[in-house]
Amino acid sequence: MALKGSKGYMTGFGSEFATEAVAEALPVGQNSPQRPPHGLYAEQLSGTAFTAPRHRNQRSWLYRIRPAVIHGEFRPIKEGSFHNRFDEMPPTPNQLRWGPLPEPKGTRDFVDGLFTMAGNGSAAAQAGIAVYQYLANRSMEGRFFYSADGEFLIVPQQGRLRLDTELGVVEIEPQEIAVVPRGVRFRVMLLDDTARGYVAENFGSALQLPDLGPIGANGLANPRDFLYPEAAWEDEEGDFELVGKFQGHLWSAAIDHSPLDVVAWHGNYAPYKYDLRRFNAIGSISYDHPDPSIFTVLTSPSGKPGVANMDFVIFGPRWLVMEESFRPPWYHRNVMSEFMGLIHGEYDAKAADEEGGFVPGGASLHNCMSGHGPDADSFEKATAADTSKPQKIEDTMAFMFETCLTYRPTKQAMETSALHQNYQDCWQGLKKHFKA
Ligand SMILES: [Fe+2]
Repeated sequence: MALKGSKGYMTGFGSEFATEAVAEALPVGQNSPQRPPHGLYAEQLSGTAFTAPRHRNQRSWLYRIRPAVIHGEFRPIKEGSFHNRFDEMPPTPNQLRWGPLPEPKGTRDFVDGLFTMAGNGSAAAQAGIAVYQYLANRSMEGRFFYSADGEFLIVPQQGRLRLDTELGVVEIEPQEIAVVPRGVRFRVMLLDDTARGYVAENFGSALQLPDLGPIGANGLANPRDFLYPEAAWEDEEGDFELVGKFQGHLWSAAIDHSPLDVVAWHGNYAPYKYDLRRFNAIGSISYDHPDPSIFTVLTSPSGKPGVANMDFVIFGPRWLVMEESFRPPWYHRNVMSEFMGLIHGEYDAKAADEEGGFVPGGASLHNCMSGHGPDADSFEKATAADTSKPQKIEDTMAFMFETCLTYRPTKQAMETSALHQNYQDCWQGLKKHFKA
């Protein structure tokens, strides 16, 4: 199945868009006319309170074949590896690292293939995030999903995805990301045989671009590189399933038509994509390694000034030119908690080791106030490096989901064979160099 009318993308982060897949489907001059064009229904989808300040207000008007209310009764469905049980075991201060999750048996689509790694807060508290990995080997045929709990930030690591959403089609490949807002119904189609990647579900305020302060008007992720889909629709009838995520649990309802029937829409609440390779990295051109916040792509503010409910941060290709400085990330402990993944290549602070190290498809977790930093080999190399010469970090893309709330790994994440048993050994070889 493919949506009709998909023409491509519109640009500009959080802009006010207007798009129609059928000529003159968008009402002119009003949102809910008595009889919308072409016999469509008008429906508003609000991502913020009606009364949110104008610069934070998010809503779109959808003009669709049937309103979203038409479906059968929702019934709870048995949860598999995709859940929000963050209280199954005490959160651990230990530094954790995982290799790529093992391929599960059988066929599974994106929703079946989600595996909860860790989380904090809850949909009920409207704070915190859940971190998932997905392993899928089939498309969602006749099945649609939405989360009432949070927006989905999808980070493919292997395999291209086509997200057919109510508001249009978003295609992403590894090193691109997509965000599907809370409530938006979508299905995930695989464009390759298998797909693997990471997801952050953000229960807090919607992701936005970080303020730039003294950096000025440009830099980091530029607003025009965020792409929003043109309207696209289908008019399909059949025995379909709508899966809703609501307050941490999954519910299923029968639906006799495709909910991807929005022929036109206007507004600023819509899915979007971004190519991480377009990130304008900014860093030190004199000395020292700046804080990793310099690599923030998107942030969800917590309400406390400067404290993020979540930050999405990337470590991509860049030059290191800092003289007489320790160029990799320094040793540190953080009030924030850090879940990292590797999309592509090698991460500069961790070499491969007997457990495989930090490899593409793997992950690491450094919780609140747990020390971390370069391993012994990386430390030795960095302290001996000639820093009179610039060094280019190439062919890499790592990322971090950083959050102000402590991560609580799930039982399945602590019991998977992908969990490395000897991660802390990578630091045990750090020698004492002190001479009084
Ligand atoms: Fe860190």
